[in-house]
Amino acid sequence: MLIAHVSDPHLTADGAPMHGLVDTGAALARVVAEINLLDPLPDAALVTGDLTHEGEAGAAARAAAILSALRMPWFAVPGNHDRRAAVRVACGPYPGDAAADWMAYAVEGFPLRLLALDATTDDPFRARLPRAELAWLAARLAEAPERPTLVFLHHPPFDTGIGWLDQMGIAEGRHEMGKMLRAHGCVVAVLCGHLHHPMRGTWYGVPVLAGPSAANRTVTSGHGTELAAIAVAAPPGYALHRWDETAKTFASELRFLDGHAEGWRTARPDPSP
Ligand SMILES: [Fe+2]
Repeated sequence: MLIAHVSDPHLTADGAPMHGLVDTGAALARVVAEINLLDPLPDAALVTGDLTHEGEAGAAARAAAILSALRMPWFAVPGNHDRRAAVRVACGPYPGDAAADWMAYAVEGFPLRLLALDATTDDPFRARLPRAELAWLAARLAEAPERPTLVFLHHPPFDTGIGWLDQMGIAEGRHEMGKMLRAHGCVVAVLCGHLHHPMRGTWYGVPVLAGPSAANRTVTSGHGTELAAIAVAAPPGYALHRWDETAKTFASELRFLDGHAEGWRTARPDPSP
């Protein structure tokens, strides 16, 4: 099974450049066009949040319209820049509980079972996994203990070591989630975004892969808590993940629109004992 992993396209409602610099609609369209040229074509695409830059319904609709050009099914979760309701509406029929203040759902029918999670809140600088959502995750994992499973959400559970990013990380529920994923034993990876910079780590023994942004790339000049120096840098990119059902292996690569690929930057250590 081949999975295209798109993250953080940050569409604006009126098409204005993000930060006055990046035409995010054009960047996402280029990423979509590149994915559509892959041979073989991915079986599915996962979009790990921040479809929009400022959350408007119009921006979410613009993102969904561009993503709908993908030649494979795609599935999205909200990010801290999104408004959950707008993402639910823009991305088609929502299979989860529309009354919940989180967006989680299971996708069946592929060699990997896909579980979408959502740690966003109404505050873009605060993230948490609510108890009810963790209970939902526990129930999904319990009903298919043997199924190879891939989890995707916007926020990485690990600490990056970059203070201003970590202080808006998942404040509640990440350790509970990690223990559940480890106990299940068949979770092959957690995919996320948020960092606009590829990073990998492990969380309670499970590989965690934060993909590049489909809009831009941020480079920090320091690890402090001040959001002082971020360079908006090209090129946008995406990740490609391959699950080998026979060998039971999961392999990933990063692809950027200037034609080069690279490995992942390693994150801080796994907290699991
Ligand atoms: Fe983002």
